[in-house]
Amino acid sequence: MKEFMDICLEAAHAGGEVLTQMCGSFTTREKSPKDLVTDADFKSQETIRDIVTRAFPQHDFVAEEVMDGASTTLTANRASEYCWIVDPLDGTMNYVHQMPGYAVSIALCQGDRLLVGAVYDPVADECFTASAGAGAQRNGKPIRPSDCQQLAEGLIAVSLPAEFPRGSLEIARLIEVLHAAQAIRRLGSAALNLCYMAMGRLDGYWATAVKPWDVAAGALVVQEAGAVLTDFRGGPFKLDNPPFAAAATPAVHRELLETLARAEQ
Ligand code: IPD
Ligand code: CA
Ligand code: CA
Repeated sequence: MKEFMDICLEAAHAGGEVLTQMCGSFTTREKSPKDLVTDADFKSQETIRDIVTRAFPQHDFVAEEVMDGASTTLTANRASEYCWIVDPLDGTMNYVHQMPGYAVSIALCQGDRLLVGAVYDPVADECFTASAGAGAQRNGKPIRPSDCQQLAEGLIAVSLPAEFPRGSLEIARLIEVLHAAQAIRRLGSAALNLCYMAMGRLDGYWATAVKPWDVAAGALVVQEAGAVLTDFRGGPFKLDNPPFAAAATPAVHRELLETLARAEQ
């Protein structure tokens, strides 16, 4: 496991270094309405891919951006039981606007099982890591979720799709949780939201439209830190079907699921 984590960390820091170097001098385009990509996303992914594939040439490599040496589908014909899942820049909208709150996210899974993950925020120089069965860390030190027991006392994050119709279920869920929670945040990086929950800055988090590379590393960090992560019905979290609800404690998780479900009535 250590050799996997060493490469995961090396690649996450190298990707973060690219983002820092290119900050303020990148070009941006829209992949789809309100969904941005910059040449820093591509350069970071290329740098990460080179490090990972040099170390583990037999492993599969799935990443967000369409480019050589990477697949964008988790379920494509796998050559190896090992698969790296990479978001070279999670929080591109923040990055483009020179707001903090973006990160590199890298995970390795064996079959369906997440083995190691790292989420690196180059602005805060914070690195969140986890290995299966060995806990979660922030900059090498163990982390735990908060002890929040009530949604009314919880700071809850949400990831919403880039666009959604007025009156949609997304809005109904947002309004329900706005009323029930102490406060809501839409911070702009799914990977960091998960890590912030794992270390107690946030007490809960839900998302409907995220992709495997947004959440693979963060999901392992959350689970290894001891928080609760499930789908919207309380069933197991699945990497290839990511709508999920996470919370620091079972009590807040139960309330969050009930509150989200109220929006469907
Ligand atoms: C986005 C962020 C955001 C989430 C979006 C993702 P990107 O990732 O994680 O928080 O709401 O669904 O696409 O595009 O910045 O890599
Ligand atoms: Ca992302
Ligand atoms: Ca991205």
